Amino acid sequence: MNNNPIGIFDSGIGGLTVANAISKAMPKESLVYFGDTAHLPYGEKSKDLIREYSLGISKFLLEVKHCKAIVIACNTASAAAYEYLRDSHKGSYPIINVIDPIIEALVERPELNKIGLIATNTTISSGVYQEKIRRRKPSASINTLATPLLVPMIEEGYANDNISRTLIGNYLSNEALEGIEALILGCTHYPIIRKEIEEYYEQQVQLFDSTDILANKLKWILEKEDLLCSERSAPNSFYISDMNPHFAKSAERFFQESINLELLNIWKEGQ
Ligand code: DGL
Repeated sequence: MNNNPIGIFDSGIGGLTVANAISKAMPKESLVYFGDTAHLPYGEKSKDLIREYSLGISKFLLEVKHCKAIVIACNTASAAAYEYLRDSHKGSYPIINVIDPIIEALVERPELNKIGLIATNTTISSGVYQEKIRRRKPSASINTLATPLLVPMIEEGYANDNISRTLIGNYLSNEALEGIEALILGCTHYPIIRKEIEEYYEQQVQLFDSTDILANKLKWILEKEDLLCSERSAPNSFYISDMNPHFAKSAERFFQESINLELLNIWKEGQ
């Protein structure tokens, strides 16, 4: 079991920011990544639909690819489908979402109490971050802002330019985020524009995203469950459910090294 890969999924390529952090923290582990590009964006879909997609992908990762653990590398799917997946697989595999490790990191910083959250519409309206912060950090207030244009902007390759600076500035100057001490980047696409957000706040606001925080948490879980791999046994593999000419190039930006994306439509009969 220890030599089996770690399964990671997202609606598309955003979760590659998480996969990259996992691969740096645990270079001996093999990864199987699935980006459900046929159904992108999840951020505008209903909870029921996201659950159905997430269940199909997790079955593929567990039953076909024999993964030893699953990472939901998408905030929207974590908000809509984490408990559902955990219950569907009856606790037999570690399943980790991107929201809880951020909440834990915030709990460890008692001096940060005015918290902002930017994320997709579905993540914000699920109320999952708000509820978890209310429960785990009752002294804190949370102000939220849906920022739906950031995902298409990043997917289209706009970062570190005038277009991204204008859009980021426009969102972050919204009065909902006034006076915050910490900002949760509640979408796995946003680490790509983390530097620009830091510059906007002139390093005065503490940012939390689910890259290194999640990788460290996963390492801790695998260690505890005695599931760490002692030697690299297979190369990483990357699948997407629909091909688009941009993806391969964007994927390299997200993963920070060249990768071979394979088209695999698990939704088509016979696959
Ligand atoms: N990467 C997804 C997330 O973390 C958002 C992308 C989408 O809307 O599909 O929420």
